[in-house]
Amino acid sequence: MTQMPPHSLGTLAPGTPQSTFRPDLLAGKHALITGGGSGINLGIAQSFAAHGCAVTILGRNLDKAQAAARGIVDAGGRALGVSADVRDYPAMQAAVARAVGAFGDFDIVLAGAAGNFPAPVDGISPNGFRTVVEIDLIGTYHTIKAAGPHLNAPGGTVLSISAYGIPVPMQAHVVAAKAGVDMLTRTLAIEWGLRGIRVNAIVPGPIDGTEGMARLAPDEASRSRVAGSVPLGRMGVPQDIANAALFLVSDAASYVTGVILPVDGGQNMLGGAPQYQTYQQMGLAQPKP
Ligand code: COA
Repeated sequence: MTQMPPHSLGTLAPGTPQSTFRPDLLAGKHALITGGGSGINLGIAQSFAAHGCAVTILGRNLDKAQAAARGIVDAGGRALGVSADVRDYPAMQAAVARAVGAFGDFDIVLAGAAGNFPAPVDGISPNGFRTVVEIDLIGTYHTIKAAGPHLNAPGGTVLSISAYGIPVPMQAHVVAAKAGVDMLTRTLAIEWGLRGIRVNAIVPGPIDGTEGMARLAPDEASRSRVAGSVPLGRMGVPQDIANAALFLVSDAASYVTGVILPVDGGQNMLGGAPQYQTYQQMGLAQPKP
């Protein structure tokens, strides 16, 4: 099999340095990546594959998951696309069985599937709130629960994609769910520590070109406001998150567990003030009429 060179990644933005990791960093490993059909998780899947890892891309939409896998295979990697809704536990178990049948047990389980839309607490229905909690929190639990029995130990790693870690207006449903993901991550890191399984999470900042960013900053004005709210002065690119993921799942992080790592250009250090300003500008911070 041809080894896919790290610099062949489609997610590298112009000017982004080529991979600083050795090409065989994850050789012989198998990663399950939920939500891997697009955005940040696809960037991670491509990056893992480019460093020698077989990847199973799990998504709700089979065509999208298979297209993502095909792109990786065409670039010389090993990948499989499977479909399941992370809210549906039996479907997750079936998808895990397919993945294990194709590439064997997992070394890496990456829970990345998420659902998001901006809405104030007043403007979201009980079903809307529950939907996001079920995708983000329960879906993360289902992923880990279904894949856990097939996670190699010692040496396996779990990585979840969290968000914010601070209160953010228009995102109560998301921050509530992701706070649960953070505590699940830290608690599981303790429970599985003696098995030699590390459990961590990444908190991405605003990442350009993703569906989430398109929803949260749909026009140029809001995009430049977002970039201006980042101490490093720019939005991130998927490769920024993939690099952190590569580190956390590699042996370089063999003494790192229970960590919720912000990869956000420093944005969260400033708290929720920028988002509150946006909320005010939208005329939503009003006393009840
Ligand atoms: N504002 C308020 N409520 C919204 C909403 C919005 N922008 N978008 C969806 N909802 C509500 C719906 O009205 C519905 O509630 P209701 O039945 O009381 O009307 C509830 O959320 C479920 O919506 P539905 O479209 O039926 O759910 P779904 O399972 O098909 O979709 C979502 C899940 C809602 C998270 C959808 O946004 C999605 O599929 N997102 C996937 C991609 C994504 O979010 N990526 C970003 C990752 S950061």
